[in-house]
Formats: sequence, C-alpha cells, structure tokens
Amino acid sequence: MSENPESTPPILSPIAWQSGVLKLLDQTRLPREETWLECREPADVADAIRRLAVRGAPAIGVTAAYALVLGLDGAGEGAALGRRFDAVAELLAGTRPTAVNLRWALARGRQVFEGNREAGREAAQSALLRWAERLHQEDVETNLRIGAHGAERFRPGDRVLTHCNTGSLATAGYGTALGVITSAWRAGKLAQVWVDETRPLLQGARLTTWELERLEIPYELVTDSSVGMLMARALVDRVVLGADRIAANGDAANKIGTYTVAVVAARHGVPFYVAAPRSTIDPDTATGEEIPIEERSSDEVTEVFGTRIAPAATKARNFAFDVTPHELIAGIVTEVGVLEPPYEESIRRALAETDPSP
Ligand code: MRU
Repeated sequence: MSENPESTPPILSPIAWQSGVLKLLDQTRLPREETWLECREPADVADAIRRLAVRGAPAIGVTAAYALVLGLDGAGEGAALGRRFDAVAELLAGTRPTAVNLRWALARGRQVFEGNREAGREAAQSALLRWAERLHQEDVETNLRIGAHGAERFRPGDRVLTHCNTGSLATAGYGTALGVITSAWRAGKLAQVWVDETRPLLQGARLTTWELERLEIPYELVTDSSVGMLMARALVDRVVLGADRIAANGDAANKIGTYTVAVVAARHGVPFYVAAPRSTIDPDTATGEEIPIEERSSDEVTEVFGTRIAPAATKARNFAFDVTPHELIAGIVTEVGVLEPPYEESIRRALAETDPSP
C-alpha cells in the first residue's frame, strides 16, 4: 500500500518567478494541456486570478505577493511610489473576496513595502521580491507539516473523500488536504481516494485527478451528489478537504458543496477534517455568517465548456463557496497541529504560536 520513496515525484509548484516574469501554470487548460501563462503586469495577474487560471487560497496569496513586485516596475519615487503600491494592492484585493490568504498576503506585503520605501523604488521592489520568494518556499514547508499532522489521524486501509482541489496546484506546492492524503498514502495508511467532481468548474475531475495520477495514488471520481450513496454504503472512512477562510469560531468557508458533504458525514459518523494553514484563519471574522461568499457568472452553470445546456432564458445562481459550521468539523489540520473544539480557544492558541522551525 505504501509508495516507494525513490519513485516520489518532485513537488510541483504552479507558480514560478523567472527573470522578472511571473509564470503561472494555466489551470483552466488542465488536464488537456500544460501551458504556462507569462504575467508581466499586475493586470495580467488579476485577470489570471479572476479566471481561475491560478486558484486555491494559498496559491492566490503567493501569486498576489509576486504581483506586488511586478507592480513596482517603472513606478516613480516618493508619493508616486506609494500611490502605485496602493493601486496595485487594491486591484488584487478586488479579484476574489472569499479566500482570506489574498488579503493576508497583501497586508504583509504592505508591511514590507512600508519598511523599505524610504530607500527608494528599487530597494522596495527587491525587498518585496525576497519576501515573495520566502513566502513561496514557506508555504511548501507549511504544507509538509500539515500533511504530517493530518496523516496521524488516518488508520491503515482508510478510504478518504475529498472535494475540489487542494493539492500542489492550489498552493505553492504539496497541498493542504491533498498533502494530508499524500502523506497518509506514503505512510501506508490509505486504501483509496474518492474525488468529488466539483461542479461547476470541475476542479476535482480535472485537477485533483491529474495530481493523483502524477502521485500514483489510487482514486475514483464521483459526481458531487454521490456522497450520500457512498456514505450510506459505508465506503468512506474519513473526509479531508480545504478552506478559503476559517472564522475565529472555526466555521469554515470552502468550495460549494462542502457543507453538503459535512452534513452527510455527520449523519453517518464519518470524521470530517478541514486542512489549512494558519494564514487561512481570519481572527477578524467572528463567525461564518460574516464571510463574504463569491458569486460567479451564471454562464458557468448554464454552460459546460462553452456549450449552453440550459434553455436560453434560464437564470442561474452560482455561489462559489459555502460555509460549514464548526460543530460539523472533527479537527482543523494546521502546520502547528490538529486544532480541536472548542475552536475559539484552539484557534487563539494556534495563532499566538511562533512559526515552527523548518
Ligand atoms: O474556486 P477555487 O478553485 O479557488 O476554490 C478552491 C477551494 O475551495 C479550496 O478548497 C481552497 O481554496 C483551499 S486550497 C488549498
């Protein structure tokens, strides 16, 4: 059941900085094509984030960090430099509202900028690049720790269900929930993965499957609505999935359909875990009710890959995320351990901890 470590593929990152250009693996084209977008301006990056060419809360945060660096190209000095930074940060902040990692990265980027702007544009830009590269690397290290903590909760032979894509593609590398799944597989504790297809944009069917193929982890794809059937037949031992924002009380926003999985898991006594770095926890959001939920174009529901499937007059609502109340969550797997109820307390303690050394 365990994997030969010699055959372990290198950790993939969907983000690369090369000679002043930000390269992003275009996730709208996977799994058919592996194409890298080249972003030279913040507007290119904002467009890529909006179109979900780069997606997943931690990946969006790291991408935004590099976009701040691009934003200072050709900026003036003094007040003009400050105005440019503000404009770029505002452009990026407006791309996707739910994933808090975006705001988290922009707030940290601002601190780096403020600490270096007196030294001039070039120095501020170099400092931002060093910081973005560090963030990129730290995210991978964080995910490896999340993976190790999460794998401890698995028992040999477990069949796990996951939703959306939380792997290397959704982060700077290795993944959060899919990282836990990878670590559990490598520890010889996993029998198989159930992958929800994740309507409407099919992150599960297109991206999680692509990653699991690469990792040689056994999986089967199911429609989102199969979750009740699978659990009623006792074919799922554990659920692990990601989050875009976790409120201070442990309520967690994640890809639409997550709440349904949580309710069915509770009905069948299947432990439901959320895996996320501490940068996904928003202490300023008290409960899930305060989390802004992105609504996307109705075309994503009424069309499938550009082909209209509903009558022309059909109106559709396209909520990109839903909120799972904390009572349904067995544990929140972070880089500092698995947080357990009462979450207000465990979250407060986790956020107060200093970063674990690599
Ligand atoms: O709309 P997406 O594809 O960006 O949504 C992604 C998710 O919901 C993920 O589960 C979440 O961002 C965590 S990714 C490690």
